[in-house]
Parts: sequence; structure tokens; C-alpha cells
Amino acid sequence: MTSISATAVACPNIAFIKYWGDIDPSLHIPANGSISMNLANLITRTIVNYDPSLLQDQFRLNGESTTDEALERVSILLNRVRQLANISTFARVESNNNFPTSVGIASSASGFAALSLASSKAAGLELDEKELSRLARTGSGSACRSIPGGFVEWHAGDEDADSYAYSIASPSHWNLADCITIVSQEEKPISSSVGHALAETSILQAARIADAPHRLNLCRAAILACDFDQLAEVVELDSNLMHAVMFTSTPPLLYWQPATVAIMHAVQSWRKEGLPVCYTIDAGPNVHVLCLGEQVEMIVERIQQLPGVTQVLTAHPGGPAMLEERA
Ligand code: DP6
Repeated sequence: MTSISATAVACPNIAFIKYWGDIDPSLHIPANGSISMNLANLITRTIVNYDPSLLQDQFRLNGESTTDEALERVSILLNRVRQLANISTFARVESNNNFPTSVGIASSASGFAALSLASSKAAGLELDEKELSRLARTGSGSACRSIPGGFVEWHAGDEDADSYAYSIASPSHWNLADCITIVSQEEKPISSSVGHALAETSILQAARIADAPHRLNLCRAAILACDFDQLAEVVELDSNLMHAVMFTSTPPLLYWQPATVAIMHAVQSWRKEGLPVCYTIDAGPNVHVLCLGEQVEMIVERIQQLPGVTQVLTAHPGGPAMLEERA
């Protein structure tokens, strides 16, 4: 082993075209491709240290030990890295988010992206972006989109080798902003992993998947042309389709709270007034309000007037997962 310790940073991402449902849940091979934007300044920093004195892997998140389930997910990814690097040493993993955990921002995406980069580097591997994206995907599907920078597309593929994400435009291509509107700090009642497994129980999932290539084309074209109107239409449609699948699953998943719906109404009426703004919602009640970077302050001011809003975080397009040199 050339190196036993490495530190990496990665940001979460917000999906414009959503990943919901797997064709292979163990490897997170998705039922459809997806497109996202990395969220700058929201950062997970992860240090991985392979230590021959350890009898098992250790994982601390934000300075605290985690559940056995979280440790197991980390260990499964570390096992893949150990197999690739042909080593057997256990590792101490410390991960810190500079944003509040469990506010519906996918910290598993930034977490597994940073873990993949730090753990492979510390094990002496030099994985390229595609290999890192595939590795991160095995930890959490959406994590594969936090390896490349800017605006990112996840090619669904149908097996491990061809399911990975790549950048379709750099962070500076388009000054968009995500106003992450928090209405509830409660832990998600149903995790995404459980939700993915339920997607197939909705009769709407097949229609959602069949039309995904069309929505991906519209979304990619809107990003490349910096066309906000086209982006808004396809982003809201795609979010609504995913939630339609969610609340027609068995059992049904209804993540929205009254405040969620109030924000959806407000955003649609602002767009009717002519403001470039749209919403997208993940597996939780909080709302990502997308707007142009230069209008972010005015939009945040409006959002803060709405009922039930407890906090608004803002993020611009973020860069790729990166190694940090040791001080
Ligand atoms: C609604 O990537 O969190 O945010 O692979 O089980 O960890 P696991 O799921 P995850 O699912 C993300 C679901 C989503 C949509 C998206 O980000 O594309």
C-alpha cells in the first residue's frame, strides 16, 4: 500500500430527472437514466485511514458513531475497494457534512462519493472518473452523480460496467441556483432504498420509465441551451411523475406536507407572473426551488413569506468530488 490515509470532499446533487426504481437493487442499476446538478458549498469531507490494528471498520458521521446499518453500508463499499486493491486492512472512516443532515438533502450521495474517492486513493488505487462513479453507485445510486462536476447525467446501463455518470456541462455553464426550502427537519419515515423497491408496485411506474428517454432529451437540451422555460416544464413534470408513482405504490408513499403543497402553488403562480422559477421534490417534504443565480435573493425573500418554511439554504452548480492534500 502506497498510502494508508486520504481525505476527499464531494457535494450532494439535486436530480432534475429522477432515479426511482432499480432493475438490480443490490448494485443500484436504475430503471431509468437521470440528470442532476451538483450543489456547491454543501460539502461532505471524508477521511479514510486503513489501520492494521483495527479488528473491524469504524465509521463516525459528524463526530458521532452511527447505526449498525450505516456502518454496514460503509463496510460493503470498503470491501469492494479492498477486493480491487487486494488488501484486507480495516479502516477508520470519519465523515462530516457542513450542512444539516436529515433535512432532505441527499447526504448519502455526497457521502458515498467522498468515501469512494478517499477509500480507493488510500488503498493505493488510481480509479478514473467512470470507475469512481461506478464504485460510488454501489454505495448509493445517486452518489454516482456526485463524482463528476456541474450538470451530470447518469447513463442507466443494464449492468455494473455500463451504469455510471458523466458531466454534460461544467458548473460555470449556467448560473442556476437551488433554494432548498426546509419545511420539516424530521427523519425520513421511509428510506429511498425501501421506496425504490416499492416503485414497481405502482401501475404508473411502467409509463414513467417508458417516457424517461424523452424527458432526459428535453432536460439535457434545456441545460445545454440554458433555456429555463423548457427546464422548468420538464423538471416539474418529472418530479410530479415520481411522486405520482410514490403515492400509488403499495403501500403508498406520501412525502408531502401541507407546506410542501403551499410552496408548489406559490412557485407555479410566480412562474405565471413571468418569473423563471420551478420546483422539484425528492423523497421527503422539503422543496428545491430552482431559479436563476442572479435572482436568488429575491426568490428567497418570497419563499420566506410562505407558511411552514423553517429555513432556506441556497446552492449554485458545484464541482466534482476531489481529493484534499494533507496539511
Ligand atoms: C428521490 O440514491 O438515495 O432522491 O441508491 O437506495 O441510496 P439509494 O437511493 P438514493 O435515491 C435517490 C432518490 C431521489 C431521486 C434522485 O436523486 O434521483
